[in-house]
Amino acid sequence: MTQLSRRSFLTLAGAAAAGYFVGAPRLAMAVEPFVLPPLPYGDADLAPVISQETIGFHYAKHHQTYVNNLNALVAKPENADYAELGLEEIVRATAHRRSLIALFNNAAQAWNHEFYWNSLTPKGGDNQKPTGMLLEKLEAAFGSYEGFKVKFRDAAVGQFGSGWAWLVCERGELKIVTTSNAGNPLTADPRYFLGKDRKRHYRHGPIPLLTIDVWEHAYYIDYRNRRKDHVDAVINSLLNWNQALDRLAAVS
Ligand SMILES: [Fe+2]
Repeated sequence: MTQLSRRSFLTLAGAAAAGYFVGAPRLAMAVEPFVLPPLPYGDADLAPVISQETIGFHYAKHHQTYVNNLNALVAKPENADYAELGLEEIVRATAHRRSLIALFNNAAQAWNHEFYWNSLTPKGGDNQKPTGMLLEKLEAAFGSYEGFKVKFRDAAVGQFGSGWAWLVCERGELKIVTTSNAGNPLTADPRYFLGKDRKRHYRHGPIPLLTIDVWEHAYYIDYRNRRKDHVDAVINSLLNWNQALDRLAAVS
């Protein structure tokens, strides 16, 4: 499970206190701005695979901009209801709705990037390797750890334009999916139901375990147009398999 940003935590804690999850009337909550969650490592710790300069732009500029944009959007009177929701709730409530595309894009990119930073670790990839239930499911789905690496690399390289490659768990099976732009597997299923708040809520899609960002801003400083080299290096050296195992155990 991705780390909760302070805003998400406050919202969820407030929601729990207000009985939101058990259908009790919602109480007015103070609007806290979304904040950029801290990186789980130093900004130079992923080098040489991802340089400090890339992190400086990607995290401190791009990720920060999505957070800033989201704060500005939920501050608008017409979006007041969304200011009371957590990040994932906004993603679920705004997916597939053309009139809410700006809210979705910025909330999903904030969610995706927080998840992405936690999908990486300085001594990950082949230095860590999947174990236990995660390894068993990888072997069942892709033949072997090495087989997974090739399919994940090919999916990430093959994603046309900006987007994301994801290792997900769907009904107990591991799969690789890609999404375009701000897309997120959680809302891949376009069917929805109306919640007690009378807003659309999207049915659970596959549960993300790991992701790689293949927007050009993720690699262009270090690799220029060589997306494949970047993706290979991330898979071999940075994927946080311990995090993926924890996420898998949480949904199994
Ligand atoms: Fe990004």
